[in-house]
Amino acid sequence: MDYSCHLSVSVFMLFAFFSFFPINAVARGGDRIPSQPGAMNHSKGYSTRRLFGVKEHPLTEEIIQGYMSNFELEKSMKEFGKRCANISYVYSIGESVQGFPLWVIEISDKPGQKEPEPSFKYIGNVHGDEPVGRELLMRLANWLCDNYMKDPLANLIVEKVHLHILPSMNPDGFALRKRGNANDIDLNRDFPDQFFPINDVESLRQPETRAIMNWLKREHFTASASLHGGALVANYPWDGSEDKRNKYYECPDDAAFQYMATVYSQSHHNMSLSKEFPEGITNGAFWYPIYGGMQDWNYIHGGCFEITLEISDIKWPKANELHALWEHNKKSMLNLVASLVKAGVHGRVFSGETGFPLPAYVVVEGINYTVRAGGIYGDYHRILAPRGSYKVIASMPGYQTKSTQIQINDEGVNLDFILTPEKSNNKLAKPKSCNCDCERSDQMELFPFFKTIPIELFLIVLFILLFLCYLFKRRTIFKFSRHNRQFIGAKRATVV
Ligand SMILES: *[C@@H]1O[C@H](CO)[C@@H](O)[C@H](O)[C@H]1NC(C)=O
Ligand SMILES: *[C@@H]1O[C@H](CO)[C@@H](O)[C@H](O)[C@H]1NC(C)=O
Ligand SMILES: *[C@@H]1O[C@H](CO)[C@@H](O)[C@H](O)[C@H]1NC(C)=O
Ligand SMILES: *[C@@H]1O[C@H](CO)[C@@H](O)[C@H](O)[C@H]1NC(C)=O
Ligand SMILES: [Zn+2]
Repeated sequence: MDYSCHLSVSVFMLFAFFSFFPINAVARGGDRIPSQPGAMNHSKGYSTRRLFGVKEHPLTEEIIQGYMSNFELEKSMKEFGKRCANISYVYSIGESVQGFPLWVIEISDKPGQKEPEPSFKYIGNVHGDEPVGRELLMRLANWLCDNYMKDPLANLIVEKVHLHILPSMNPDGFALRKRGNANDIDLNRDFPDQFFPINDVESLRQPETRAIMNWLKREHFTASASLHGGALVANYPWDGSEDKRNKYYECPDDAAFQYMATVYSQSHHNMSLSKEFPEGITNGAFWYPIYGGMQDWNYIHGGCFEITLEISDIKWPKANELHALWEHNKKSMLNLVASLVKAGVHGRVFSGETGFPLPAYVVVEGINYTVRAGGIYGDYHRILAPRGSYKVIASMPGYQTKSTQIQINDEGVNLDFILTPEKSNNKLAKPKSCNCDCERSDQMELFPFFKTIPIELFLIVLFILLFLCYLFKRRTIFKFSRHNRQFIGAKRATVV
């Protein structure tokens, strides 16, 4: 106990020490950082980001007019659910701080049911003051409903994908016309981070963030995108670099992510013509690193390939521009969802012994990332960059691992696995319960003095130590996370 207590204190001090200097510099938002000449001189550097430090025109009533209020959005989603009842299912994944439901529309020919198909999610309005996404997502839903049975792309999406649309993740921020939620927390900095344990305390997490995290536990998403405003670019992981520097920081699936981002930018009216971002895409950390973002969390913990789409230079354009923005993004939004089916490798894994589906692990040689097959159908869906040769490996404890070499050209590849159980005498030799017991008794031998203390006394002392450690941890982590939020939040307040 003592040890873990000390450990958490030292870890805390270590992080506190490392995080103060760099964050302080970045926190000013958009100022030049002399220690990073490479990034600054580059056309993608902070200095060219006109958003930084530049206030957009104030939100007058005139500008707000023409955007759906939260109640109008809710009504329009419910009406959609009625109008398109046989291909949609409307449900809520939780509530905002102020109790507004976070409504989702699922679009599929079997809405609300599980099928061995990939799932995609679109999330809009993560930042309350970036409302274009929520408007476009409703147009997307309506377009799919109107064009199902008429347009091949609509058919493909309805029939081969389960598309989940959350138009507003931050209804309170929208109502308050601000970036953060009602508690003033930037939701795209509220997720657990891979490098800095700033948001690891569950009780401090915002209800909107928690709703998304629980959603991912229930739904097995293959890929997703969140919609933002303030720039025109498709941004992909990693969003944060290990040392907080501006640099290209690639994740294991860099090629697949570049492909996804390119599908979006190439299908867009003019995203790929960007002068600021070659091809209209960027690695997040190369642009500017962020921590606690939703995108990296999805990839690391949700098994979901998420990209972040900046779809309009102006965060809150006049409503009469929404139609043009929809036209600019329509093909991109559709093609990105369709790419789940048109690219990558898909299949199911079965047991050769029973024929039942297996929730197996699927990896591709040379890419350090594991995709898990679904529990019900044993289906897996793995996005991979087209035009490549890949060795796909399926494994499951108790079964022999199998691998197959595939060539992906301009279409998705279907690949099922039938796994043979390991020799049965192996299983007999190792009954499950033995391992734990053996390990436990080994550990006890390390502390022989425990045996001489009366068990009641031991338990009381243990309890007191645990409680003190808990209290102390809460205090330090709480302080620490507040502190970091301030710095990081301040920087975020000027970003997209
Ligand atoms: C870097 O900046 C210097 C001076 O600010 C400029 O002369 C040079 O052309 C820049 N280099 C690039 C690659 O932009
Ligand atoms: C939905 O309803 C339309 C019109 O009644 C029908 O043509 C279509 O087959 C239905 N689709 C599904 C998936 O049930
Ligand atoms: C894209 O088109 C819009 C509207 O036509 C325009 O305002 C914007 O400047 C263009 N952006 C690029 C990068 O070409
Ligand atoms: C693979 O990724 C995991 C984290 O997901 C990491 O712990 C491990 O070190 C990586 N392995 C290699 C060989 O890079
Ligand atoms: Zn944003």
